[in-house]
Amino acid sequence: MSYAHLLLTKESGYAVVQFNRPEVLNAINIQLMTELVDALEMLDKDDEVRCIVLTGNEKAFAAGADIKEMADASAMEMLQRDQFARWDRIRKIKKPIIAAVSGFALGGGCELMMTCDIVIASESAKIGQPEINLGVIPGAGGTQRLTRAVGKAKAMEMVLTGRMIGAQEALQCGLINKVVPVEYYLQEAKDLAKEIAGKSPVAVKIAKESILKAFDTTIEGGLEFERKNFYLLFSSEDQKEGMKAFVEKRKAEWKGR
Ligand code: HXC
Repeated sequence: MSYAHLLLTKESGYAVVQFNRPEVLNAINIQLMTELVDALEMLDKDDEVRCIVLTGNEKAFAAGADIKEMADASAMEMLQRDQFARWDRIRKIKKPIIAAVSGFALGGGCELMMTCDIVIASESAKIGQPEINLGVIPGAGGTQRLTRAVGKAKAMEMVLTGRMIGAQEALQCGLINKVVPVEYYLQEAKDLAKEIAGKSPVAVKIAKESILKAFDTTIEGGLEFERKNFYLLFSSEDQKEGMKAFVEKRKAEWKGR
């Protein structure tokens, strides 16, 4: 399948989705977002793909929503575009998504990064929510996911000043997982995708779902959800195989069911 603003490649066990609007630092317009959701949903159904890497280029992961596309819109036009419905669909992707981030991850780019499950960044990453400088606020989860990730104090500082933080600061405040030199960030994300692709796909999906549950439930409800999912996995062939392989001192062969 070919896209105007995305490049898609499948490797052994995982896929790489790359934003491809380098002339505008991968600014996210409606078409890019439509294609992204289409690609992710397609990969989510593809049994050969067990993990997804989302990336931009060295200069920019994505510099935010396309400002030119929304500059003259009225509130009613924004409402009717209903663009956040697409963002909600990304939240429903069951396979793990690893963001490989270099350069700018701003506004919607930072929000997209935060919808991913793991973030590998290059030393050059510049991350922020600069919407305040445009007279608006983050609209795709920036006030919510950022606050949950870094806490109130840092989220206030970033959203109220619009200031970008570097990769090391993002690492220190728990926004990203790892920082590597720019020449390695994509390979590092791919290696991680390959490692996750080597686990039981059914357990991986249920683990992701259970961790995400922690963000919208009480501890009581979350523990109950986890417990039911733990029991559920005992009905999978992968659980039988995983434990049998351990006992027999051999590598498990996952069936994904
Ligand atoms: C449209 C953008 C863009 C954006 C960059 N460009 N960001 N176009 N929307 N978000 C375009 C520029 O207009 C320019 O095109 C080209 O990309 C290169 O950008 P420069 O500004 O010349 O590069 P540089 O001087 O290196 O500055 C990089 C930058 C700056 C600091 C990242 O581009 C910038 O501040 N961009 C906007 C960042 C931002 O405010 N993002 C939040 C958007 S609101 P031309 O044609 O002039 O060469 C948002 C809300 C999300 O994301 C809500 C959910 C959907």
